[in-house]
Amino acid sequence: MSILNIENKNIKFEDFTQTLNQETIFDKTKRLDVLLKSGVLTGNEALGMISLNKLSANVKLQEKDGYCHDVIMLGSNSYLNIANNPRVLSASKRALEKFGVGMGAVSNYAGICDLHKKLEEKIAKFYNTESSIVFPSGYGTNIGVISALCSSNDVIINDSANHASIYDGCQLSGAQIKVFPHGNMKYLEKILDKIPDDKKGRLIITDGVFSMDGDIAKLDIITKLAQKYNCAVMVDDAHGIGIVGKTGRGSAQFYNVMDKIDLNVAMLSKGPGALGGFCAARKEIVQYLRLYARTYFFSTALCASVVGGLIEVFDLFEKDNAGRLELMQKTQYLKKKLQNAGFNIGSSQSAIVPVMIYDEKKLFKLYQELRLQGVYVNIVTYPAVRRKECRLRLCMMKDLTYKDIDKACQIIIAKGLEYGIIN
Ligand SMILES: Cc1ncc(COP(=O)(O)O)c(C=O)c1O
Repeated sequence: MSILNIENKNIKFEDFTQTLNQETIFDKTKRLDVLLKSGVLTGNEALGMISLNKLSANVKLQEKDGYCHDVIMLGSNSYLNIANNPRVLSASKRALEKFGVGMGAVSNYAGICDLHKKLEEKIAKFYNTESSIVFPSGYGTNIGVISALCSSNDVIINDSANHASIYDGCQLSGAQIKVFPHGNMKYLEKILDKIPDDKKGRLIITDGVFSMDGDIAKLDIITKLAQKYNCAVMVDDAHGIGIVGKTGRGSAQFYNVMDKIDLNVAMLSKGPGALGGFCAARKEIVQYLRLYARTYFFSTALCASVVGGLIEVFDLFEKDNAGRLELMQKTQYLKKKLQNAGFNIGSSQSAIVPVMIYDEKKLFKLYQELRLQGVYVNIVTYPAVRRKECRLRLCMMKDLTYKDIDKACQIIIAKGLEYGIIN
């Protein structure tokens, strides 16, 4: 096993991804263990932390050393905290009583019940599409959809900021993968223009709301280019569903192009507050996915309790009654406070607010100190973004009060001043 030089201040995430010469596959796990026990800050100090109560604006956390403390929760993807809505909870409980904890089989082998069918119908209606398919995992939705529909004769064009699960799905498909710099529509057109005419299997994939920046893909331009170059379009709206668009139908509604999206993918784990993912599309596409998407075909169906709760969630979404406007007002309030203090918060159009730090060492300290002072935010650096674009990532939650937001901002601003992020 190679010796890890802890004094070397440039130890990176990537140093532990490869088995080195003469190493067994487990030696890198031992090298990582030495680093994590060394006391050198790596941004992983919260590893092993647990939540002691259900999600709310104020959560009690237990650190890995047993220390318990309260935090203002600015790091949850459950923006609407809809999982704790009384209607959603009681629907989930009813389903739990009726069908038990697990379904015991994959969807195609009697692993689903009437609730799964009802949820899929609701999702299809929400997107005004013919059909939809629900997967047991969000990550697995992208892997399954992309690898089922694309293969070595196809070309997939990605925004560089797309989620890891999209890239993994692309890799698995064996298709040719092209990438354009984040949001650069000229570059996208350059790529499209160069695709040989006889290559008809073309798919543009983009996050709807980008998970690390909170901005929305330019779907108005993307759908026009797709039409011009005969491309299909897939949107992963994990962070847009229920949150953006005139009535919360997501990023495509924001640009009024819902009818131009071929594959409406989103996760049931963020705004919808539960677990899983789906693809809403034409009937024959969904039918194909039920047989060829391996993360559907070979994976046990979602628990009925999750599905039962989600049916209520989509009921609330349908009537735009889940608290989206309150969430967005509070997000604006937070953004203004941070911007006025001098932070660079990018150009978010959603409930995700990046706070750019640009210096990983400062980021590690900020993350640790903010949490211990009572503000929970997420830490984002490589491999989620480039190291030089490292940041804190704040997620607004509807249930936070203006007093919570004021208090959190006060602490973040004081730390920002202390570390010279703002002046
Ligand atoms: C854009 C995007 N797609 C897919 C996923 C995966 O979803 P899940 O966490 O439900 O597996 C995430 C979650 O981080 C995401 O942000």
